[in-house]
Amino acid sequence: MQIVASMRPGDAAVHAPRGSIQIENVNKTYRENAASLVVALEGINLDLPANSFVSLLGPSGCGKSTLLKLIAGIEKPSSGVVRCTEVVDRVNTGVAYVPQGRGLFPWMTLLANVEFPLKIAGVAPAERRRRALEWIAKVNLSGFEQNFPRQLSGGMEKRGSLARALVTDKPILLMDEPFGPLDAHTRLSLQQQLTQLWEDVKNTVVFVTHDVIEAIALSDIIIVMSPRPGRIADVVKVALPRPRNVLSVPDCDGFVELHAHLQRLLFGEHAL
Ligand SMILES: Nc1ncnc2c1ncn2[C@@H]1O[C@H](COP(=O)(O)OP(=O)(O)OP(=O)(O)O)[C@@H](O)[C@H]1O
Ligand SMILES: [Mg+2]
Repeated sequence: MQIVASMRPGDAAVHAPRGSIQIENVNKTYRENAASLVVALEGINLDLPANSFVSLLGPSGCGKSTLLKLIAGIEKPSSGVVRCTEVVDRVNTGVAYVPQGRGLFPWMTLLANVEFPLKIAGVAPAERRRRALEWIAKVNLSGFEQNFPRQLSGGMEKRGSLARALVTDKPILLMDEPFGPLDAHTRLSLQQQLTQLWEDVKNTVVFVTHDVIEAIALSDIIIVMSPRPGRIADVVKVALPRPRNVLSVPDCDGFVELHAHLQRLLFGEHAL
């Protein structure tokens, strides 16, 4: 059954296809202190189709994390409507959310971390163990099940976070700069792994990044945002073929033009 609701108190329930995300006339204002307000997002309209890989690309402070939190249901819009599937009692059960800067829970082993969302969802112990082990194997971490996060490298912990997000099998996966502070080699290898896992699962992903090449390599759609207040500067389709090898994406036809277009949107004509 598809359970759908608007994210605004008092709205009538509105249906959206499973995995799709619709954002209509959304504004988000935060109160910075008693005297001042910050307009984090203004006039956001988006219609994201199910089963697509979408990146939010833009400079620091343009509202990427805020938009992701609105989709997750963690924040409410000041005005406008966010629709996605499976909101139950105002909790959006249809999304898995990997917050910015957050890794695995440091007090739990890798296995306990990956099992955790299934435990919360009430999945029986044997079944959650089976699914957690399956995903730990898919992200190449077999043998490290009993390690605590401090006993894993940064890249291994990120792969663990990926397994913990994907094990839930949600129609929508939200990831906020999941590969942020990693070295270039580890980052490329994680991008390739995420691409391959996603091409198998094909849920809807909304992935936040500052990195133009990462956005092109991973995405079907890139939402470019501009700051103060956060607005949509452009919605760019990425027509590069799949399955993708992230290392050879820069050699694909159309890459150079797409890269230049995105750079111009982000930095203006003079940056090139
Ligand atoms: N809880 C909050 N209270 C007040 N202001 C906030 C809050 N969260 C975000 N903001 C403000 O909203 C704006 C957008 O913030 P947001 O975190 O969404 O940006 P971002 O694009 O994710 O930035 P970054 O790339 O640095 O993570 C910023 O001006 C920020 O200061
Ligand atoms: Mg952010």
